[in-house]
Amino acid sequence: MMQLTNGKNVSFRLLDRNDRQRLYDYLNQLSAESKSRFGPHDFDSKTTIEICDNLCGDTIYFIAEDSDNNIIAYMLLKKGTLDADRSRYDEYNIYFDENLTATYAPSVADEWQNTGVGTAMFQHILLYLKNCGYKNLVLWGGVQTLNQRAIHFYSKHHFKQAGSFWYQGKDNLDMFLDL
Ligand SMILES: CC(C)(COP(=O)(O)OP(=O)(O)OC[C@H]1O[C@@H](n2cnc3c(N)ncnc32)[C@H](O)[C@@H]1OP(=O)(O)O)[C@@H](O)C(=O)NCCC(=O)NCCS
Repeated sequence: MMQLTNGKNVSFRLLDRNDRQRLYDYLNQLSAESKSRFGPHDFDSKTTIEICDNLCGDTIYFIAEDSDNNIIAYMLLKKGTLDADRSRYDEYNIYFDENLTATYAPSVADEWQNTGVGTAMFQHILLYLKNCGYKNLVLWGGVQTLNQRAIHFYSKHHFKQAGSFWYQGKDNLDMFLDL
């Protein structure tokens, strides 16, 4: 349990099998804007059931909870890089060791954004990455250029810009972190 600057307490843990409904509820209370910016997987119940039934694969699911045990943030770490991301990094002539690289997708509930919970949870995830010997962290599908809060968040945590690309009518940036 830790206290944010707004005085509220949050705790971090890994998602578990019993979180299906709570994860579904979390994802589906995100605003349309947050949903449009966070796209590692679909938000339907089939997907959330599949996630909670397959927690031992190559993706690790972290959650943050408030003092009433509501999920208030959800962040994914995938071992290695996604094919689509890797092919763009190849074009930038940036190469990662797949065994020492993870791919990252963060989300925070709208009413908790800008409270520092994203930063606190990222510090928690950084500790995990360093303890596991990872050397690089790559954004999952980059970040939309219009998403200035997220770009500020990543820059503040020392991510570097690798290049830009166009996807589904939007301009995006690839960013990565040397750990
Ligand atoms: C991006 C996200 C994970 C960051 O988490 P968070 O808890 O809001 O982040 P924090 O509160 O720790 O930090 C937010 C920072 O952005 C800054 N910020 C807020 N709005 C901003 C804006 N419009 N432009 C630039 N910076 C902004 C805040 O001042 C703060 O920076 P500071 O600590 O230097 O003052 C979260 O906002 C989120 O889930 N957004 C919606 C989904 C999303 O965009 N996911 C990322 C997809 S790539």
